[in-house]
Amino acid sequence: MLGSGRGSNFAAILASIASGRLAASISVVISDREDAGILELAREAKIPTVVLRKGRFRTWLEPEIEEELAQSLRQFRVDLVVLAGFLRVLKGPFLAAYPGRVLNIHPSLLPAFKGKEAWKQALAAGAVETGCTVHWVDLEVDSGPILGQKKVPILHGDTPESLHARIQEAEHLLYSEVIQRVIERKLWQGIPS
Ligand code: GRF
Repeated sequence: MLGSGRGSNFAAILASIASGRLAASISVVISDREDAGILELAREAKIPTVVLRKGRFRTWLEPEIEEELAQSLRQFRVDLVVLAGFLRVLKGPFLAAYPGRVLNIHPSLLPAFKGKEAWKQALAAGAVETGCTVHWVDLEVDSGPILGQKKVPILHGDTPESLHARIQEAEHLLYSEVIQRVIERKLWQGIPS
């Protein structure tokens, strides 16, 4: 799993594995931020962690660092890469190494509200519902083929915080359901080179 944030999706996936709802194992947790909560949770769960080398850019990784990322995943024999709040755009070299094997979760009903703080975008647009989406990652941001969505109503009096919290509850259910389906049906397309 790859993440830059607090790791609540990681915790939910770990709980699904522990309860037998998800027939998978997490081989490694990788982050671009050494202070990310997801790393702390992984260490508590005795799952190996890797921190990526700091590059020159804030929103993406240099090709050499993407190659190091792919190396780490190969070293841990990863079949499926699960992104949860990983704040770097992944480009060619990494996606070429893991073609059709990278999942992401986004806090809106894509294609609506791509990009940052999608829950705030939904509130600002006066939408009556939003939700979350699990999709394959491709070269465009928040745009790969959709595997599953969960709707979340927007309630009168919702704040960005209350709405985001409800979307995250939906994410925690959706991600494990979709990963289980991907594994059962062997939905990944390529083989790591
Ligand atoms: C999630 O809300 C996800 O939709 C977005 O980043 C957040 C990650 O949260 N891409 P967490 O680190 O799993 O708590």
